Amino acid sequence: MQTFTDQDIAAMDKLTRVQFATSLPGAKPISLIGTTDLAGQCNLAPFSSVLHLGSSPCLLGMVSRPDLVERHTLANLTEVRAWTINHLHPAILDAAHQCSARYPKDVSEFAATGLSAHFHPGFLAPFVAESRFRIGLELEDIIPIPANGTRLIVGRVVLVQVAEENMLDHGGIDLTGVDCLASTALDTYFQLRPLARLAHAMPGQDPQRI
Ligand SMILES: Cc1cc2nc3c(=O)[nH]c(=O)nc-3n(C[C@H](O)[C@H](O)[C@H](O)COP(=O)(O)O)c2cc1C
Repeated sequence: MQTFTDQDIAAMDKLTRVQFATSLPGAKPISLIGTTDLAGQCNLAPFSSVLHLGSSPCLLGMVSRPDLVERHTLANLTEVRAWTINHLHPAILDAAHQCSARYPKDVSEFAATGLSAHFHPGFLAPFVAESRFRIGLELEDIIPIPANGTRLIVGRVVLVQVAEENMLDHGGIDLTGVDCLASTALDTYFQLRPLARLAHAMPGQDPQRI
């Protein structure tokens, strides 16, 4: 097995280091973040850093890069205090990836890629109509990470939209049924294949598949 030290990582050229570092967490969820400013200028950007922070209240986090350049997602959700998470499926992958291009603020990625905005009454941020699994969030907190200038954005889930047939009996959402995707680095995407479900682990008891 090859071993890399922190010095080896620091010595990599920038593109290699980005590919290496963004592979380290393994496959992550990938979704389109939908935002708007108060004037109604909409924005979409793919984010792979969405994570579960708690179930009661239901909280999700995501990490925004440092705002050394304009960050439309971060600016919009700071202004409007709401955003959407729109899970991808294969048919919208290319359009979603294109949303990572640095369009000027007055260009909506909806218009640039042909994706359609869907609005829920009383909720300002746009959903992606083509997504099969969508979440609306309200801003709870933005926590700076001083080590590198990134920010952990904490949101409270206020809306979830998914077809009834994709709800599982135990309360979960059928992620393979909606053909949810995963990603690594900034360019590699995966489909999901279910492996197993295991019962709550207890000391002294063998793992039990259910
Ligand atoms: C697969 C993929 C995952 C990404 N994940 C993130 C992320 O988690 N956080 C982030 O700040 N940018 C992420 N990006 C980069 C943003 O999508 C990109 O910077 C985008 O232009 C931001 O647009 P905005 O300025 O409209 O917010 C990702 C890009 C790709 C292609």
